[in-house]
Amino acid sequence: MTVLGGIILRLSVNVDHVATIRQARRGMEPEPVTAAVIAELAGTDGITVHLREDRRHIQDRDLRLLREIVQTELNLEMAATEEMAGIAINIKPDLVTLVPEKREEITTEGGLNVIENKEYLKGVIKRIQGSGIPVSIFIDPDTEQIKTGHEIKTTFVEVHTGMYANARKEKERNTEFERVRNACRFASELGLRVNAGHGLNYQNVIRIAGIREIESLYIGHSIVSRSIFVGFERAVREMKELIEAGSGR
Ligand code: PXP
Repeated sequence: MTVLGGIILRLSVNVDHVATIRQARRGMEPEPVTAAVIAELAGTDGITVHLREDRRHIQDRDLRLLREIVQTELNLEMAATEEMAGIAINIKPDLVTLVPEKREEITTEGGLNVIENKEYLKGVIKRIQGSGIPVSIFIDPDTEQIKTGHEIKTTFVEVHTGMYANARKEKERNTEFERVRNACRFASELGLRVNAGHGLNYQNVIRIAGIREIESLYIGHSIVSRSIFVGFERAVREMKELIEAGSGR
């Protein structure tokens, strides 16, 4: 399956947190592959996993099984390392999203510093694209980073919505929203394809869904959190409905 731009705003459900619960006991449940199947039945347009270097949640085996069973689009988030590039080229996800990774962080904290790592990232992107996999880079809503992303020929940028999502005061939230919107526009004008995600939930997603340049939203924590109370199928379906309503597409 290829990653195609479409008329609708799409949702990709990140199932890392299902694996986080499983790894708390190093056991067999809950199974992230089951979560992926249910998410697809509930109408998701894609499944995302982050195979971290320390394998703290998703395991290599999960990735192999997901590649077998995912019928929508499989997005692999990963650090831009030699090891991970090798795994991606072998597994062939539908999209690779390069993210910065620090061992001590709880989740991905900031976007990639594309400016500082320009030549290195250019090489990794070229290698992965050369195997037929489109590449996305996770970056802050910063025009200089986006410009550099364009120069190193990334297919997509995933604009980091975390600062918008974490803003507690309305003024700050509005400022951060404008940064995200302007970044999406800027990237699109350069000819880049645009995704967005991080920290999005059932309240703050609606405004982001209204940004017409965005093709897909990547959401994990809020969906898995809600699923504890309403079930996974309903949690995914409700997010999908909100995105559809918010996008007006
Ligand atoms: N996008 C990227 C690049 C991420 O690293 C994550 C977290 O794994 C997400 C989106 C999803 O963020 P959240 O779990 O806060 O919805």
